[in-house]
Amino acid sequence: MGEWDKEIAEAASILSRAKNATASCGAGVSAESGIATFRDPGGIWDILNPSEVGTVDGLIRTLERKAKQLVPIFMDMLTTFEQAEPNPGHHALADLEKMGILKTVITQNTDNLHREAGNTEVIEVHGNLCRMVCLSCGRQRWFERKPLISEAKAKLKALKKFKLQDLMTIAPQCTLCGSMMRPDVVMFGEAVQDLPRAYQASQTCDVMLVLGTSGVVYPAAYLPIEAKKAGASVIVINPTENAFENVTDVYIPMKSGEALPLILERMREMAS
Ligand code: OAD
Ligand code: ZN
Repeated sequence: MGEWDKEIAEAASILSRAKNATASCGAGVSAESGIATFRDPGGIWDILNPSEVGTVDGLIRTLERKAKQLVPIFMDMLTTFEQAEPNPGHHALADLEKMGILKTVITQNTDNLHREAGNTEVIEVHGNLCRMVCLSCGRQRWFERKPLISEAKAKLKALKKFKLQDLMTIAPQCTLCGSMMRPDVVMFGEAVQDLPRAYQASQTCDVMLVLGTSGVVYPAAYLPIEAKKAGASVIVINPTENAFENVTDVYIPMKSGEALPLILERMREMAS
């Protein structure tokens, strides 16, 4: 018997009855894929300062001052991102979609792992690192994660200078207009993507799974509250904190890659 069996069983029973569940995910869901979260000890905001690299202006100014220091950190991050694979939590969410229970994944993650695990309705409110956008004509283009990253790493390795215009050459060029492209991700101060769809999914779901988020970044942090207001059951999985206590029906203090497969196992037992 595991410590949280009662909570796992409750979550399994709620999900078994669901017809239109939504998951709202944060960095914790990808932690077990080896990608550091932002605010846990040793997380990205321990290594990098958000005011230095979290905004477009800040990043440009910081690169001018200390590119030499930042490039090895970016290189390590690229390697982590290149090597990551969907973990059992991502796979469980894909299974829940196949079972006809989970209809939408809303995620703050930009790592593409939900899609690679097999979820098809994925709303990426902070964008996706595998999609580039042209700085000049706005054209978006999707790339395969591993080739995109390995090419960027090779170009970065070959650079002799780290001025902004040199660094920008590591991203692919726009095939329409030849201009530079950047990853289509949301930096601080930029508009969140697809928010109306995210609200719609939150306000119409019967169950919301809130997975691996500290709930400090808005508007993503409003979504569980919207779901509860509209009558959904809210299940929170997070090993260290629950930022949504006021709206939570079941809280499971476990890693998502451990709790979700246990919930699915329980659902299968209940069905047999
Ligand atoms: P945070 O780093 O703020 O929070 C990660 C959460 O995941 C914490 O609450 C951890 O307790 C939890 N966690 C850690 N390991 C876990 C695991 N194995 N399973 C489940 N949960 C786990 O990340 P987010 O809430 O996603 O925004 O951060 C939101 C936004 O802040 C990011 O999208 C990014 C960042 O600034 C932008 O870049 C715009
Ligand atoms: Zn273009």
